[in-house]
Amino acid sequence: MTGKVYLIGAGPGDPELMTLRAVRMLKDADVVVFDRLVSDEIMAMCPEGAEQIAVGKCPKNHLVPQERINEILHEQARMGRKVARLKGGDPMIFGRGSEEAAYLMALGVEVEYAPGITAAQGASCSTGVPLTHRGLATGVQYVTGHRQADKVLDLDWKRLADPDTTLVVYMGVANIGQIAVGLMTEGLSARTPVMAISRATSAQEERMVSTLGRVAQDCREAGLKPPTLFVIGKVVSLYAANPQDLAVEAVSANG
Ligand SMILES: C[S@@+](CC[C@H](N)C(=O)[O-])C[C@H]1O[C@@H](n2cnc3c(N)ncnc32)[C@H](O)[C@@H]1O
Repeated sequence: MTGKVYLIGAGPGDPELMTLRAVRMLKDADVVVFDRLVSDEIMAMCPEGAEQIAVGKCPKNHLVPQERINEILHEQARMGRKVARLKGGDPMIFGRGSEEAAYLMALGVEVEYAPGITAAQGASCSTGVPLTHRGLATGVQYVTGHRQADKVLDLDWKRLADPDTTLVVYMGVANIGQIAVGLMTEGLSARTPVMAISRATSAQEERMVSTLGRVAQDCREAGLKPPTLFVIGKVVSLYAANPQDLAVEAVSANG
């Protein structure tokens, strides 16, 4: 009898941000196949006796190739086990969840989903910086800032350089200089505010507020490391360490 795979979004780190469905599925699992972005607190919620398989890193510190992860999920389900595939954030946002689901379903394995709070939403609520805001941003774009080592970032800078939209860059630490130049070349002001958030929603969360013109240098000086995301746009001007100030700023931004 074939088991099934639960494709679970664990959220950005804080266990309270998991959905009830995610917790139910995790508790029901015989085996947990997990990514490196899943926090220790969430791993502590795995059922006692469930096998845990880390696929974020292998002994030499390299990622387990996606093909092998797919095989592991299939092998486990074929043994009749209920497999929790636990991923940071949401499995369908820069999470390869759809690739894993397609592979498994083609082999006749049942897949069930639990959405997760993506890092952008977690960071937004933990810092109080909205992703949209009346008068400042009419929409939000999520984009990856990562390309394989030998490839250049070929993003559509013209489309992304929209002063009325918030841009959230995932996986952008290594290329933030290139990203800033691409956006400024297409007309975004060097004074556009940028916030970098590392380990959002965890006890180790770090925030850095900068501008497009300075962000690469500030990032280097602050020594920010992944997982970090960048929120770029006027909404960052609402950031205030003190929530009282945030409310005042928001009112004045609305006129
Ligand atoms: C492979 S993507 C996974 C995204 C994930 N599926 C999600 O929905 O959040 C990894 C990137 O997500 C971002 N990220 C994930 N968790 C984060 C966190 N707690 N704080 C800041 N950025 C995070 C970082 O940009 C990181 O490099």
